[in-house]
Amino acid sequence: KTIDDISSPAGKRILVRVDLNVPVADGKVTDKTRIERVAPTILELSKKGAKVILLAHFGRPKGEPVADMSLSLIIPAVNEVLGTKILFAADCIGQDAEKAVASMKDGDILLLENTRFHKGEEKNDAEFTQELAKNGDIYVNDAFSAAHRAHASTEGLAHHLPAYAGRTMQAELEALEKGLGAPARPVVAIVGGAKVSSKIDLLQNLVKKVDALVIGGGMANTFIAAQGINVGKSLCEHDLGETAKAIMAEAESAGCAIVLPVDAVVAREFKANAANETVAIEAIPADAMALDVGPKSVEAINEWIAKASTLVWNGPLGAFEITPFDTATVSAAKFAAEQTKAGKLVSVAGGGDTVAALNHAGVVDDFTYISTAGGAFLEWMEGKELPGVAVLSKTA
Ligand code: 3PG
Repeated sequence: KTIDDISSPAGKRILVRVDLNVPVADGKVTDKTRIERVAPTILELSKKGAKVILLAHFGRPKGEPVADMSLSLIIPAVNEVLGTKILFAADCIGQDAEKAVASMKDGDILLLENTRFHKGEEKNDAEFTQELAKNGDIYVNDAFSAAHRAHASTEGLAHHLPAYAGRTMQAELEALEKGLGAPARPVVAIVGGAKVSSKIDLLQNLVKKVDALVIGGGMANTFIAAQGINVGKSLCEHDLGETAKAIMAEAESAGCAIVLPVDAVVAREFKANAANETVAIEAIPADAMALDVGPKSVEAINEWIAKASTLVWNGPLGAFEITPFDTATVSAAKFAAEQTKAGKLVSVAGGGDTVAALNHAGVVDDFTYISTAGGAFLEWMEGKELPGVAVLSKTA
């Protein structure tokens, strides 16, 4: 059920779980994307005359108040994005919250303090959930990026109040469904990033679902080394060689092509503009490390993107934070963006560094959908059930 299904929201107290876990430096929000993503739900409900009560976590404060994890820090950024002044309560339960809610007028927006300032949040404790539920008539979850957590505000509340998906939750689920649920084929996945160990489940699930799996970034070295090729000083999890081989065997039996780099850009130092050369993958010097996939590999990756109807992308192809080792990531991202703009490709990306990498490539507005979710995006791509999503369909 979505917010379209809420009959007469005017005057109702609607608890809206949002993800306001945004990066902050020197007391300022450095990336407002997550706030922008939840703005439509908040403004829509406010315009409909609901009393909009925002629940969110911020950082990992371990069940106690921590000054620099107070949501009060992000009020100016929320006001700016929403174009209106929100109210704030210094606690998410108890007198502070109750008083603030009681004095709300229809259309007001109230932000409650960090739910993780209470131990009951992460424990999904029934008593704490009841306390939260007291302040609402209806629960809306618009925090897909926190839906992999079975916490009071992401899962528990749906058992206590009529529960609905917000606009961002809806958009995320629709995009992911297009990407991997019922995608147009062929489907190509690009998985990059440093380590195989953090993405074993993801790789195992993808080989069963996609037509081609491009492996880039540091994790490609583990696959290359598993084939008996020397990767010099490159980042490599040698102990995962057997796992890499097993994934390749699973891919083969599932009819999924594994696309590994055929060349690499190598350097002797991990720093911007370090002296570098492009070598064949079998010729990585013993004292050098691969920091990006090479031009021939990019050509092959782009050929796969050209053949694909759907692309799912998680993780950069190289050390995109330092030039010129961002070349492959930028080139493939730009090509995918062009294909998408030409109407030939559905491109869905998300998780950790991916948004930063695609931002760096300047393509965030050209992909079909870029999820702001980190862990939740990964778990969804791993084929796992997200408690915050599952409960919405069950209670609906
Ligand atoms: C995120 O930043 O990915 C979400 O807000 C979830 O945060 P968490 O990993 O601290 O639960």
